[in-house]
Amino acid sequence: MKLSTTFIVAVTLIVTACSTGEEKKEPLSDVIERGLSVATQQSVLMAKELEGEEGRFPRTIKPDGTLQTSDYGWWCSGFFPGELWYLYENSSTPELKKYAEMYTDRVEPAKNMTNTHDLGFMLYCSYGNGYRITQNPQYKEIMITGAHSLATRYNSTVCAIRSWDFNKEVWQYPVIIDNMMNLEFFTVMSKETGDQQFYEIADSHAKKTMNHHFRPDYSSYHVVSYDTITGAPHAQHTHQGYSHESAWARGQAWGLYGYVVMARETGKPEYFEQARNIALFLMNHPRMPEDKVPYWDFDSPDIPNTYRDASAAAIMASALIELSQLITGDFGAQCLAFAEEQIRSLSSPDYLAEPGTNRYFTIMHCTGHLPGNSEVDVPLTYADYYYVEALMRLKRLTTKN
Ligand code: GLY
Repeated sequence: MKLSTTFIVAVTLIVTACSTGEEKKEPLSDVIERGLSVATQQSVLMAKELEGEEGRFPRTIKPDGTLQTSDYGWWCSGFFPGELWYLYENSSTPELKKYAEMYTDRVEPAKNMTNTHDLGFMLYCSYGNGYRITQNPQYKEIMITGAHSLATRYNSTVCAIRSWDFNKEVWQYPVIIDNMMNLEFFTVMSKETGDQQFYEIADSHAKKTMNHHFRPDYSSYHVVSYDTITGAPHAQHTHQGYSHESAWARGQAWGLYGYVVMARETGKPEYFEQARNIALFLMNHPRMPEDKVPYWDFDSPDIPNTYRDASAAAIMASALIELSQLITGDFGAQCLAFAEEQIRSLSSPDYLAEPGTNRYFTIMHCTGHLPGNSEVDVPLTYADYYYVEALMRLKRLTTKN
């Protein structure tokens, strides 16, 4: 009830501003609180809905309007528990803790998986956040097992972690830009265990990706496949983007986030520079829409009559907020101002669900895999996770200043 009123106030503010032509910006703190409040209400409703469905996680909405769930093995299993941990960190209620623990426990079997590169997403978003907040030693043990499983996918000739095992007739050793998102898991586990191997894998994967995934304008390929004998790239392709040479929006966001993390974790100037150049490519892109929520691919010929990907905006906003603290001055201020605009857009009725709707997801209008005609203009669990992470980062910053 309280939230619906807040929602109406926000809409009224926007409508009033438009009709009077005045720029009346809602205070950022109100935007942040509204976003966190909607995310909390939606996540608790979602947690209750799936409470009795042992081992299941929210994924998206199916074309028939029903909720699509997944098991622990889907690459997104860690996002819902991770989001619950962030929301518990924001408001430490017993209910949020109970659900954060319950859904985190459901991810545990993933620790033994060696047929996926996504263990960083699955285990670090869930157990990593849980461990950061509770220091539960069992969570750390589960992550150590998972880090060893993921390390089996590293090849020291290629100097990178293998992403996919399918399409072997075309790709000898495919590495996707998304794989940059597994590196934080390794750098943190290296610090936690003292095992230098994890840090070295992360560093060499980031270096290899920097050399072969990026074009001169700092846009990135989605898939680079390497020759397993020489370690040299033999194909630069896309899988989820418009074309091999296009800039698939979420891929650009994964790359940005990955190099921001590597800059923070290693302190290496080349990763700071890489993060900065990717951010500039994105922030200055002529086809970035006015509300700063990208179309699903920057090179889609159907722009502006095509789909947005709100998940790309959420990932990008979260990364830019962190980058604004790593590189200060005018560039940092530009990053922060850009991320703030993205958060304002995502927190508007254009993208933020009315509580009780959207099958209890928080963010609307994401695109998973358009060329595969899968998950188009739907909510996605990772959009909600990175939106909440960005809100928490922004809240920390605004309360600190
Ligand atoms: N990592 C898969 C995706 O971004 O769709």
